[in-house]
Amino acid sequence: MQAGSVGFPAPDVKFSVLESNSRSAKKCIMSEIRKIGICTGGGDCPGLNAVIRAVVKTAILKYRFEVIGIHDGFDGLIWPEKSHSLTLEDVSGILPRGGTILGTTNRGNPFAYCVNDCEQEKVHDYSDKVVQNARTMGLDALIVVGGDGTQKIGLELGQKGLPVVGVPKTIDNDLSATDVTFGFDSAIHVATDAIDRIHTTAEAHHRVMIVEVMGRDAGWIALHAGIAGGAHVVLIPEIPFTIASVCSFINQRHIFGKKFTIISLAEGVKIPDEIRRDCIQRYGSIPKEISVGSLIGEAIGQCARKEVRVTVLGHTQRGGSPSPADRILSTRFGVAVVDLIAQHGFLKMVALRGDKVVFVDIADAIGKAKAVDPQGELVNAARAIGIHFGEE
Ligand code: F6P
Repeated sequence: MQAGSVGFPAPDVKFSVLESNSRSAKKCIMSEIRKIGICTGGGDCPGLNAVIRAVVKTAILKYRFEVIGIHDGFDGLIWPEKSHSLTLEDVSGILPRGGTILGTTNRGNPFAYCVNDCEQEKVHDYSDKVVQNARTMGLDALIVVGGDGTQKIGLELGQKGLPVVGVPKTIDNDLSATDVTFGFDSAIHVATDAIDRIHTTAEAHHRVMIVEVMGRDAGWIALHAGIAGGAHVVLIPEIPFTIASVCSFINQRHIFGKKFTIISLAEGVKIPDEIRRDCIQRYGSIPKEISVGSLIGEAIGQCARKEVRVTVLGHTQRGGSPSPADRILSTRFGVAVVDLIAQHGFLKMVALRGDKVVFVDIADAIGKAKAVDPQGELVNAARAIGIHFGEE
């Protein structure tokens, strides 16, 4: 189906040209926006409600648009009865709340929607239905708040004619189009607080304590929280490490009288070969039910002959109230994305560059993960203060 084929303007058709009767001068006006939708897709993160609040306030107070809350990601456009109008009253008091009042899902790709059981290949393409339902609901634009996967779906719906705009989110901070995503700062606060708390008990027991943090394939949370929390070792996917190197560092610390060591570990680290081999010998593969922290902790315990404890922070990093910095960034993104709609900037996404909120093409923003630079300023600053990355 071509862009615009279900009644929306094609994404590149932004103006209609009117002839003025009096002077026959040509005047460009934008087709009127009256009603906009907003959905949150993928994993939740602190700040989503702050975006929703800013969108609703800006849309109603500044532009007099009606806002429709689409529930559970794109599900609310497959089953539109889930969706409803959002009023100022609906968003009152939600600024400090975690989660999302709209609900979300990371299993709701309308292009490949699994019904009942994917193994039975009940996969449906509901994308035309989504576009058609948005049209029936009278949506002049749809705000998609989500990470890389959700923005990709948004773009594909946009290519089918849905006037989509994006707001990036993820605690992982791994989107290259924006300097920072909201949710990241809140996650670092949780992880830093955990490392702070682990310090006293690690020191009291002369233990090696591993704090495993989220971040998917990127080491941003582990690096930032490691520096902020004063971890001694930071292990991230971007820097290969060996157990022998980590253990030799732990032993050096011991010789210098520091009998405890704190390790900030990213969940996405590459498992060293010796652990991989050992797992295959013992279990036939890398067991999914054992955390990477436990696997690495066991290997370190044997090699360094130290007591090791592992804390997996998991979803605590995504839950709870957004930090002040995340509330502010979410609010700026929410305001900017409504301004973007008012300018008919479809298929674009808001992003932070330096101290400015800018608009970028969604097509340019997706599929490019932002990784920690192993030779970057931040890693080198960490090295300068003695943080060990486990390199050989
Ligand atoms: O992308 C955000 C994130 O929290 C990752 O850091 C983590 O690996 C993943 O989502 C967890 O996803 P789920 O909530 O589906 O377990």
